[in-house]
Amino acid sequence: MIERAEILHWLHEDDPERLAGLWRRADDMRRRVMGDEVQLRGLIEVSNHCVRRCAYCGIRAGSPVTRYRMSPLEIFECALQATALGYGTVVLQAGEDPGLDAETVSETIRAIRKRTPLAITLSLGERDDKELAAWRQDGADRYLLRFETSNRALYDRIHPARGLETSDRIALLGRLRALGYETGGGVMVGLPGQTLDDLADDVEMFARLDLDMIGVGPYLPHPATPLAAEARPDWDSELMTYRMVALARLACPGANIPGTTALATVNRTDGRELALARGANVLMPNLTPTRYREHYEIYPDKACLRETATVCDGCLRGRLQAIGRTVGEGRGDARREARNEP
Ligand code: 5AD
Ligand code: FES
Repeated sequence: MIERAEILHWLHEDDPERLAGLWRRADDMRRRVMGDEVQLRGLIEVSNHCVRRCAYCGIRAGSPVTRYRMSPLEIFECALQATALGYGTVVLQAGEDPGLDAETVSETIRAIRKRTPLAITLSLGERDDKELAAWRQDGADRYLLRFETSNRALYDRIHPARGLETSDRIALLGRLRALGYETGGGVMVGLPGQTLDDLADDVEMFARLDLDMIGVGPYLPHPATPLAAEARPDWDSELMTYRMVALARLACPGANIPGTTALATVNRTDGRELALARGANVLMPNLTPTRYREHYEIYPDKACLRETATVCDGCLRGRLQAIGRTVGEGRGDARREARNEP
């Protein structure tokens, strides 16, 4: 476990030579617990319809993007491509889209389960417990739901409730775990009003929730959203994201931690590589058909917008080889036995 005082110390540390000590500790822990294999998870952005109005997100309800929803057959074809490329997991991600009805999702999960060896991760927002239970029964293995920030007041500001129900993603993550999902959470770094104390709380929350997957990325303002007008903290959100990746590894040694697309977007040269050298062990190549990709614009100027799945696959393998890491085989489940590593 890592103590709060130590978390705060590293969040405040600015000296590159001393920070190298944090990177080394996180990288050692990653190598010891997860090995040198990098898991590739194929991301399929299955729908950009969304009923929510998150203040940061470019596909929020009312945003002027062209909406699309993939058919079960289109999704299945992407899953076949994931298998062909040798990936062990597909991630079905969407806005919060009731038009993506429970039965259609079930059908899609069952088809992938029956005809491929893939682990299935869902990332479909806050859905009914009944739906989540049914999808788990159908064969979904994992669920990703970032809690975005553990600061409740900030969360309420950026993630307004829908109607009368309050949104409690922390509680929902607990229910997902109880349903037998491997659970993934995470946060954005550099939100307007976010403090280093908030980030320390986030790291403690990763450990408290005992997460299997932790996604951390820099917040990137989208001009068509209300949050874009607000001033951001004066620290460097790219560097702060690396600190958070490293601290996430120390707090949750056995978790799967990606070098996120948002990091690749702020640093196209080596954002992903730096994350992989500082605690991360996963990359999420985009398998969404290129005709839909540009419409899944949660933030502007996303990396790999026009590259096909095959191009990204070749690019990522080359990048991994260049930094002496190998591509993982199989599903790449979290290491539950590593939970209580020192
Ligand atoms: N900048 C960075 N990350 C974003 N996300 C959504 N909008 C943005 C943005 N503007 C992240 C959220 C969400 C995940 C799918 O993408 O953390 O949970
Ligand atoms: Fe997509 Fe490099 S990973 S082009």
